[in-house]
Amino acid sequence: MTDQVLDITEIGHSTGTEIPLNLEEEILRLKKELNAVILAHYYQESEIQDIADFVGDSLELSRRAASTDADVIVFAGVHFMAETAKILSPMKEVLLPDLNAGCSLAEGCPASLFKQFREQHPNHVAITYINCSAEVKALSDIICTSSNAEKIIRQIPEDKPILFAPDRNLGKYLVKKTGRNMLLWQGTCIVHETFSDKKILHLKTQYPTAKLIAHPECEEVVLNQADFIGSTSGLLRYVQNSPDKEFIVATETGIIHQMQKHCPDKVFIPAPPEESCACNQCPYMKLNTMEKLYLCMQHRSPEIVLSEDLIQRAYLPIKRMMEMS
Ligand code: 13P
Ligand code: SF4
Repeated sequence: MTDQVLDITEIGHSTGTEIPLNLEEEILRLKKELNAVILAHYYQESEIQDIADFVGDSLELSRRAASTDADVIVFAGVHFMAETAKILSPMKEVLLPDLNAGCSLAEGCPASLFKQFREQHPNHVAITYINCSAEVKALSDIICTSSNAEKIIRQIPEDKPILFAPDRNLGKYLVKKTGRNMLLWQGTCIVHETFSDKKILHLKTQYPTAKLIAHPECEEVVLNQADFIGSTSGLLRYVQNSPDKEFIVATETGIIHQMQKHCPDKVFIPAPPEESCACNQCPYMKLNTMEKLYLCMQHRSPEIVLSEDLIQRAYLPIKRMMEMS
């Protein structure tokens, strides 16, 4: 077969590899050849979601990563998610299309400072949001995601003080929900902190029957207006089960692809950010493209490599999360 090709330099790479025009076919061929599974987060480009074997939220993706029998996990998401997959499946090769696909929450919580934070509060139990580095996981007692955080916090004895890192908005929301007085790390998500409560209010007057649904990483002023708050999967389930027809969606816009697929007769309006920009798209998630997905499978790189010691230490708090959720 003679494939039509694009010069890879056109997409900014200098490896000399040519990009086939029939990318989808080639990705599927490589998937078979490598015995790979493609896991994608809901914030990925829609074409990546469509080619993935599984699309899910952080918790579901972790479960899939732990249970797959594939030899290679191709992780279409961000770095901390691929690291979690490696920690859960250390014998497997884990590939991430772009190593720079980070997360503002993980970057805002360096392990050295987190260690000091823990040392300053030795009696506290550290519950850490999964959006953090493997080093920070290793320094934590229990990991949580937005879909199991409340359940996990409710299992901590009342007299045990809690540290929660790194997302202060999720932390504040959980304090309100559980009544626990947690000490919060002051990190934020650059996507969820940009939604404008004033513009959302205005949208609500334009669409008076629309329900506002929001991810708990949003600021309190936005969450206070929300009809439903949940993880990405929670939001998706809500729109599927709701009798309502219109929704203002206060999370990264990638999720709308699945919402439209599952509910073609419903209307989804992305919540507007403060500035007139595309700040409601995660710049890290969007670093992954179909071309990079193909290239990482073709070159089996970039690969997530972690030391055995780090894997063992970071595994324990993730295991606790799995047992408690
Ligand atoms: P979910 O676990 O809800 O998918 O959230 C992941 C994330 O990065 C949200 O910004
Ligand atoms: Fe991190 Fe926010 Fe992007 Fe999620 S949307 S990966 S929390 S920067």
